[in-house]
Amino acid sequence: MARRNIEVCLSPLLAGCHDFSGKCVVIIDVLRASSAIITGLSHGVQAFRPVAEPADALYWAGKGYVPAAERGGQVAEGFNLGNSPFSYQEGQWAGQKVALTTTNGTRAILLTMAAKQIIVAGFLNQKAVVQRILQFPGDVVLFCAGWKGQFSLEDTLSAGSLLFDLHKYIIITGDPAIAALDLYQAHENSIGQAVMGSSHYLRLAGKGLTDEIAFCLKRDLYTTVPVLIDGELVAIP
Ligand code: MLT
Repeated sequence: MARRNIEVCLSPLLAGCHDFSGKCVVIIDVLRASSAIITGLSHGVQAFRPVAEPADALYWAGKGYVPAAERGGQVAEGFNLGNSPFSYQEGQWAGQKVALTTTNGTRAILLTMAAKQIIVAGFLNQKAVVQRILQFPGDVVLFCAGWKGQFSLEDTLSAGSLLFDLHKYIIITGDPAIAALDLYQAHENSIGQAVMGSSHYLRLAGKGLTDEIAFCLKRDLYTTVPVLIDGELVAIP
């Protein structure tokens, strides 16, 4: 097999430093967009259409989608559904398509449209994502959604965890990837504790969402890999 590289984009503000064309981009927004999308597709949501703004979600509602919007870590004003994984867990939206906008995760997806393939990852589906990446014949970028352009600890830990599983097969390229792997290895037995110090943990915990955070940090609860096809994330089991 040809030599393949894997790099890490640590923040959407650094997207311009990476060339996504022809590559597999793996979007990581552990808290909580990735986790909500993985959970929703695992519980019957037919597709998630990532959109930039709440107004876009409403536009797609006019075309039969369920509109969902998160801003600032909570359901956006005027919406009944956001990006809590718990709100997709009971199969409430099974068979339906959701048009979703979030502060960082869905925007990250929209920044990487030049990629050959876009998939969504988190701790919840890590093993399945590793298998998917190994099947992809080209280079890979792990894209951490962060928070409003800032580096985020939980997304970088998740990227590092993927690198730990992949480094024997794909060449780790660039300082951000080396740093992500190092960060993961420093905390591999205490991910929950490491995340507890992070800014988004504190933001969400302040809203009483510690159970959701614990859920998002669970490993390999699902085998679903969301893949972007024609503007929609659909489940590849
Ligand atoms: C995001 O995409 O910005 C996050 O999912 C925010 C959140 O946790 O609500």
